[in-house]
Amino acid sequence: MQIEKKRLAVFASGRGSNFRAILEQTHNGFIPAVIALCITNNPKAGVIDIANEHKIPVHIILPKNFPDAPAFNDAILKELSAARIEYIILAGYLKLIGKPIIDAYPNRIINIHPALLPSFGGAGMYGHHVHEAVYESGVKVSGATVHLVNNEYDAGPIVLQQAVSIENVNSADEIAARVLEIEHKIYARAVKLLVEERLKIHGKRVDITG
Ligand code: GRF
Repeated sequence: MQIEKKRLAVFASGRGSNFRAILEQTHNGFIPAVIALCITNNPKAGVIDIANEHKIPVHIILPKNFPDAPAFNDAILKELSAARIEYIILAGYLKLIGKPIIDAYPNRIINIHPALLPSFGGAGMYGHHVHEAVYESGVKVSGATVHLVNNEYDAGPIVLQQAVSIENVNSADEIAARVLEIEHKIYARAVKLLVEERLKIHGKRVDITG
């Protein structure tokens, strides 16, 4: 009997390099899942081209096209349910996930943050802002954090983290490049653990089994 692969939705607002990294790992079987849907809030996002290239359905869902937040969330939930989505992967999605979506997917939504949380996280800390803040602070290490998503920005239980030395960098861009390399590796590993149901959550702690 063929075991059905887990069905993922990726939410992204930008160029989509994490989307691509995860897609590759589903294709080669490292992640036993398929990306069945891509949701974006940016009609110009590079991720749209990548999804089209691979014939993955993309929905551009813009808050401004809905009367209020509940209607916006309902539109997203409708697509998730129509595509029978089991897990949501946030990959540079620049919008807080609404409570109805979090409630529908408890501990089944995962995010990557381009710094070592709980430092350099929270509202306004996204994309380049993170790397600028890291650079200005003078810290000597940065890295990436994969965490489960709850109602607060960047505060859900941490699944995986990896650090990188930034002792000799000269710009925030250099930090971003070093961190991105790590992101692609640990995000694929974390998604694998998630869909294989190997994450055991105890409060803020996540234990990895198997
Ligand atoms: C990544 O650095 C991710 O951590 C952040 O946004 C960036 C998205 O990059 N939250 P990409 O669109 O996956 O290339």
